[in-house]
Amino acid sequence: MSKSITPSTYVRCIGYKLMMQLADFIDPQEGWKKLAIDIKDPSGKNRYNQMHIRRFEGLIKMGKSPTCELLYDWGTSNCTVGDLVELLTRNHFLAPASLLLPGNSVLHSIYILHSSFTQIFCNFTVQGDSHFAHMYLTVKLTFPFHPKCFFISGFHSFWFHELKNITNNFDERPVSAGGNKLGEGGFGVVYKGYINGRIVAVKKLAAMVDVSIQDLKQQFDQEIKIMAKCQHENLVELLGFSGDGDQPCLVYEYMPNGSLLDRLACLDDTAPIPWSTRCNIAQGTANGISFLHENNHIHRDVKSANILLNESFVPKISDFGLARASVKFTKTIMTDRIVGTAAYMAPEALRGEITPKSDIFSFGVVLLEIITGLSPIDENREPQLLLSIKEEIEDEEKTIEDYVDEKMSDWDTISIDKMYSVASQCLNEKKNRRPDVKMVHRFSV
Ligand SMILES: Nc1ncnc2c1ncn2[C@@H]1O[C@H](COP(=O)(O)OP(=O)(O)OP(=O)(O)O)[C@@H](O)[C@H]1O
Ligand SMILES: [Mg+2]
Repeated sequence: MSKSITPSTYVRCIGYKLMMQLADFIDPQEGWKKLAIDIKDPSGKNRYNQMHIRRFEGLIKMGKSPTCELLYDWGTSNCTVGDLVELLTRNHFLAPASLLLPGNSVLHSIYILHSSFTQIFCNFTVQGDSHFAHMYLTVKLTFPFHPKCFFISGFHSFWFHELKNITNNFDERPVSAGGNKLGEGGFGVVYKGYINGRIVAVKKLAAMVDVSIQDLKQQFDQEIKIMAKCQHENLVELLGFSGDGDQPCLVYEYMPNGSLLDRLACLDDTAPIPWSTRCNIAQGTANGISFLHENNHIHRDVKSANILLNESFVPKISDFGLARASVKFTKTIMTDRIVGTAAYMAPEALRGEITPKSDIFSFGVVLLEIITGLSPIDENREPQLLLSIKEEIEDEEKTIEDYVDEKMSDWDTISIDKMYSVASQCLNEKKNRRPDVKMVHRFSV
């Protein structure tokens, strides 16, 4: 796309597609006005006055992009892509600048020159440490940092105001009501945003009841650190972050089918998930957990709200922020702050122990949700906790078939029994009797 573009290419030679992509970044929140005001003619005077700006404004009503019109006009002065990139970076439009000249050394040097942590940056690259270590230190030491380092280790560093722009000012109205809010969790609100024609999910971390700013920073650091290491088809991809605003933000790939929790509940009148798809979801989730464990990470908050579904219902586990890299994997760690959601928590996790076996227990609850379509906890139900149905079945009061979700029709007894058998092993009170997640597979019907 922009491969043939160099700093000396004329702005008037930028193709239509790239121009539209730039407009996607710069049109919202009147970003183009900032640029127009900053453009000078060769004598150093402002090229555009208020009258010009009003004329560009008038083009919006005609369905035109003011950014495109501005750049077409400025382009007649033979300005170059180098000039445009300079203008964009000066005005903190780093993402469109990187779109024009991806991986450009001039842009990269902006970070080196401006960062007060140049020395740390250099030390790490010279020592040949992993880019993971470099990135983690950069984020940790400079928080809240000035994102001159707009591209670190594959993650985009956005300005807070850019994320504000792409989420329509963090529009709190639900997406179904024309707003941008996708959902809300323990650490903040998730918004739908548009970057360069791509839909993304922006999680704006916020201090809430019980969550201090310290916790928030830890969650932010943790999430980035782990995401840099853990990339797998069953783990949600982190695309970028912003740390310059009061509230740190994380930008993820957008998952059009939302959470497993919401789809099992058919929220917003979505169709029930067929059994064959549910088997694939169980399998993919097991693979994701297995990958985390193989990389010495314990998720600590495995639940259906943290299992997101892409357009083909491939499950992707989200929120590694509560995970902790364990120094010695087999060792059980104690924590004074119990994290996770009670309805999914293993007895030892409730006592504050951290072990990968607790993720297996939580996965057992998710399997029960997949079979029954019931929520993990319901105060108006008997039993309130979904995991209690295991006792009823063991006491032969009920069978798992009694609990199969009536909203699906393509199930068969053999595969339901198979999945339930795994679920009940995962839900063993004694952690060492729970299966290894690697053993938990072959759910396919
Ligand atoms: N990448 C994404 N794509 C689409 N929707 C998402 C994405 N991330 C989150 N959501 C939506 O936002 C909701 C809230 O997510 P969030 O992680 O903040 O809360 P939670 O998972 O319910 O609780 P917790 O804070 O414990 O993780 C999710 O249930 C999901 O519906
Ligand atoms: Mg979540």
